[in-house]
Amino acid sequence: RGVIITIDGVAASGKSTVASGVARALGVPYVSSGLLYRAVTLHGLESGLPGGDLRVLERLQAQPPRLEPHAEGNRVHLAGRDLTDDLHATRVDEGVSAYAALPEVRAWVDEQLRALPAPFVAEGRDMGTNVFPQAQAKFYLTASPRVRAERRSAERPEDLDAIEAALVERDTRDAAQSLPAADALVIDTGELSAQEVIDLIVAQVRE
Ligand code: C5P
Repeated sequence: RGVIITIDGVAASGKSTVASGVARALGVPYVSSGLLYRAVTLHGLESGLPGGDLRVLERLQAQPPRLEPHAEGNRVHLAGRDLTDDLHATRVDEGVSAYAALPEVRAWVDEQLRALPAPFVAEGRDMGTNVFPQAQAKFYLTASPRVRAERRSAERPEDLDAIEAALVERDTRDAAQSLPAADALVIDTGELSAQEVIDLIVAQVRE
């Protein structure tokens, strides 16, 4: 059936690791909505546009980025190029919130996501609230800024304090679209391993 499960949460709360694990356990793909916001941002940066410039959408119209959901990991292609490995650069982290704040960009991303064939696990900020309010099960991941910075530090060149400051800054800028759905189960992942979070969600879904 067309089951949709949503996993939302703050930056670096483990959403994509957990979404991938849950998707593999259930034998469905997962969908990383943040990658589409990141692809828009990378294109804006590479086009030399100022931060959060709406003209990025016009430039993407002829050849929009395409999200490929898999259970193991998502890829994004644009005009024959695989952008995925460039989407987690620090400059994209820093620029993405300004693009994600534009209603037109959000509407475009939402349209791409809603066109994907269910079943899948969708991961992001507003999957359970705005994009898939009809989802069968909703989860929201949190953890303290320090814990999240420690997890992220393996993937970023900056020191721990700088990573933590950048995460807190991004949370503030993303606050408008980052509220848990009223019917989401909120999970503080601070004391849990990724596998424990995955097992908890899979158990809830199978209930
Ligand atoms: O999840 P990830 O950190 O990759 O998301 C990157 C950025 O994309 C977020 O900081 C936020 O600005 C934006 N985003 C969003 N809504 C989503 C997913 C991501 O606004 N559903």
